[in-house]
Formats: sequence, structure tokens, C-alpha cells
Amino acid sequence: MNVLIIGSGGREHAIAYKVKKSIRVKKIFCTPGNAGILNICEPVPVPADDYSALAKFAEENNIGLTIVGPEVPLCAGIVNEFHNRNLQIFGPDKKGAQLEGSKVFAKRFMQKYGIPTANFKCFDNQKKALDYINEKNIPLVVKADGLAAGKGVIVCKSNEEAKQAVKLIMEDKTFGDAGRQLLIEDMLYGEEASILALTDGKIIVPLETSQDHKAAYDGDRGPNTGGMGAYSPAPVVTPGVMEKINRKVLKPALDGLKAEGMDFHGVLYAGLMIQDAKINVLEFNVRFGDPETQAVLPRLKTDFVDLCLATATGKLSSIELKWDNRPAVCVVMASGGYPGKYHKHLQITGIEDAEKNKDVIIFHSGTDLRHGELVTNGGRVLGVTALGDNLSDAIETAYQAVEKIHFDQMHFRWDIGAKALN
Ligand code: AMP
Ligand code: GLY
Repeated sequence: MNVLIIGSGGREHAIAYKVKKSIRVKKIFCTPGNAGILNICEPVPVPADDYSALAKFAEENNIGLTIVGPEVPLCAGIVNEFHNRNLQIFGPDKKGAQLEGSKVFAKRFMQKYGIPTANFKCFDNQKKALDYINEKNIPLVVKADGLAAGKGVIVCKSNEEAKQAVKLIMEDKTFGDAGRQLLIEDMLYGEEASILALTDGKIIVPLETSQDHKAAYDGDRGPNTGGMGAYSPAPVVTPGVMEKINRKVLKPALDGLKAEGMDFHGVLYAGLMIQDAKINVLEFNVRFGDPETQAVLPRLKTDFVDLCLATATGKLSSIELKWDNRPAVCVVMASGGYPGKYHKHLQITGIEDAEKNKDVIIFHSGTDLRHGELVTNGGRVLGVTALGDNLSDAIETAYQAVEKIHFDQMHFRWDIGAKALN
């Protein structure tokens, strides 16, 4: 079978890595890809955001399965385009993708189906939002409704910060149309975990747990990023907590997808806050998490293409999930300045040396080839993943690999996984 992958990050490199291992696969195509992905996939001569042309390409090139990495094409309806041509594709339709594309929609969905989440109110009027902040007078989180590349959530310690956040979103229009509506949520406390669950619209099956590190600097300080590293499994998700997640989040979410008539064949990602075994959903995403996927997929023993195809075709119950018990850790190496401004096209060295250890996999995110040389091409550059007999081994192996890699102004966290050791 031929497989098409959409996307260009570490997540898509991890997906391509697993697809490549499947004995069912002949050719793998990817667009737009990156230097690492295009080592193992063929490029696609169609613009990555022309979804109708991609569906035509898939039809003409005998693509038996398309796997969509990022949220933007899903929210724009790529799945609908492929279904119009009777093509198999992994991901929700445009309606299902609203669970990520609109935070207001997602919160109303959670409320309707009894899924635990922080108290909230929605606003499309700046004055009313400011009045609400005065009235509440507690720590709040202000969120732009639409897609903002992970930057539209502002965690505010004071009333003043919350008011500034409302101004940033509604008056300065920092996130454009994504900020036409906003949410103001009560602050939650605890430890976060990511649950990536597969659903074929009939059943929902969680993958192994993981935890992201959103803040830019050690000790969870600094601005939020797309994610600076991850580990799997996440010990905060005890068997008791997992039972609650299944009962209070995944089961009602599946009931909701069915009741709302969403055509959902892909990943429902629940970002959770867990405190004293009490769970709340922070957000839903409708795709694999990045970098979580870089820590979760290397542990998967089940054939990934079988799994995705079964998800896309409503046959998930026929698949048995098998896992490598060894934990995995992914350390993201980012460009200096990220998540703010950063330089591009800086030479990267040391990858081959780092990859000599068989427990290490280097996933590319923002990389490119220029004049035959590997260079940086984005904020998050590499995801250095290692497996270990236990978490401290995995952490040690990952950082040994990180120390072999170099590019100017590189920046990464030294404490990925440390929380789980405590
Ligand atoms: P989201 O994109 O909604 O998951 O938000 C991004 C990050 O903001 C989360 O991973 C949390 O670290 C933080 N966050 C979001 N909502 C809340 C909340 N209600 N209380 C505390 N932190 C939050
Ligand atoms: N790592 C967070 C996300 O994928 O949204």
C-alpha cells in the first residue's frame, strides 16, 4: 500500500518512522515534510494547503491511507475532500475538528456531555469580559477561541494581567480572527498529562500516556511553547486515574461525537489537569500531540499502518495494542529565541554520532537541506528521543545524544522527565 502523510514536524517524522516499519507499505509520500522526513518519504508535487489537489494526487497515486498530522488542514476540511473521493484518511471531518478549532465549541461540548472542565464564560464583547474579570477577582486563564499555534492561551496571575490578555486578544487582535471570541476560565492547579485516544467513531482506545513540557525554560518557567519535551508513560496517570479518564472523559466524549453526527476517525487528544486524582479537561485536540507522539510512538509494537487503517475504516475493535514497556523521553532542541523570534539556516552537526546508540531516535522538526548541508528551519528543530530500561536511563541516554548535537544558539531544557522521577 502507498501512504501519504501531511505535515512537517517532529510528530510527522515519528509517524513516517512508524509507517516505514510497516511491512504493508510500498511507497510513502509526505508534504511539506522536512529534511529528516524526506530522507524516508517521497515529496509531493502539490502545494501542501491545496486539499482538493492533494485528494486528486492521492487518487492518482494509489494512496491507500492518508494520515494528517496538524490541526490546520483538519479544521479546513481536508477529510471531507478525501471522503468526497472515497479515499481512506485518518482524522476527523471539519465538524469534528471544531473540538480543537474553537475552544468555545469544545467547552460547550464538554458542558453538554458532562465532561469535567474548569468553570468558564464566553465573550465577544471586550467591556463585558473586563467587567467579568473585576467581578471574579481570582486567578484566571484567558483563551482566544480559534487556532493560534498554541499561543492563544494566557495564564494570568492577577486581574491586571487578565485585563491585558483580553486587550491583547480583542483590541490589538494579536491572534486575528481567532480572537473574535474569547473564553475566561477559572485557574486549575495540579499536574498535566496528555491522553491520545484513537477513535473510529464506534469505540475509543487510549494510547499509552504521556506528559508534555510546555514552558520554554527549566522548572516550567518562561513563556508557553508548542512543547519542549515529553515522556511516556506519565506516572501521574495511575490505574485509578485512567479508569476515571475512561469513564468521565473518553466515554462521554465518544457519546458526544456520535450524538453530534461527527465523522471522527482519528485521535482525540485530551489535555488534562490532575490534582489529588481529580481530573479536568484543559483542552481537546483532534490530532496527535507534538512532542508527545515522539515519545509515545517509539513504544508502540502494533503495526502502525494497521492501526491507522483500522481507525479510518471503523475496524478499531479488531486491533490489539501492544507496547514496549520501556519508557521513552523526547528532548526538543529549539532555536535560540523560540517561542519568540529566532534565526534560521544554521548548520546542524552531530546527528549521525548521536544516532549510533540503538536506543536513540532523532526526529526532525524544523530542518532543511541547503546546498547539501543540514540546517535549522524552524523554532523547534529536533526531537531527540531515547528508550531506557527505566525513566532515569531513558533521560540519561537522551541527554547523552543531545550533547553530541550542535547548532548555533541552540536551546533546550535540562529537566525533561525530572518531574516523573519524583
Ligand atoms: P490549552 O491550549 O487550552 O491546553 O492551554 C495551554 C496550556 O495553558 C495548558 O497546557 C496549561 O498549561 C495552561 N492552561 C490552560 N487552561 C488552564 C486552566 N484552566 N488552569 C491552569 N492552566 C491552564
Ligand atoms: N504538545 C501540545 C500539543 O500538541 O498541542
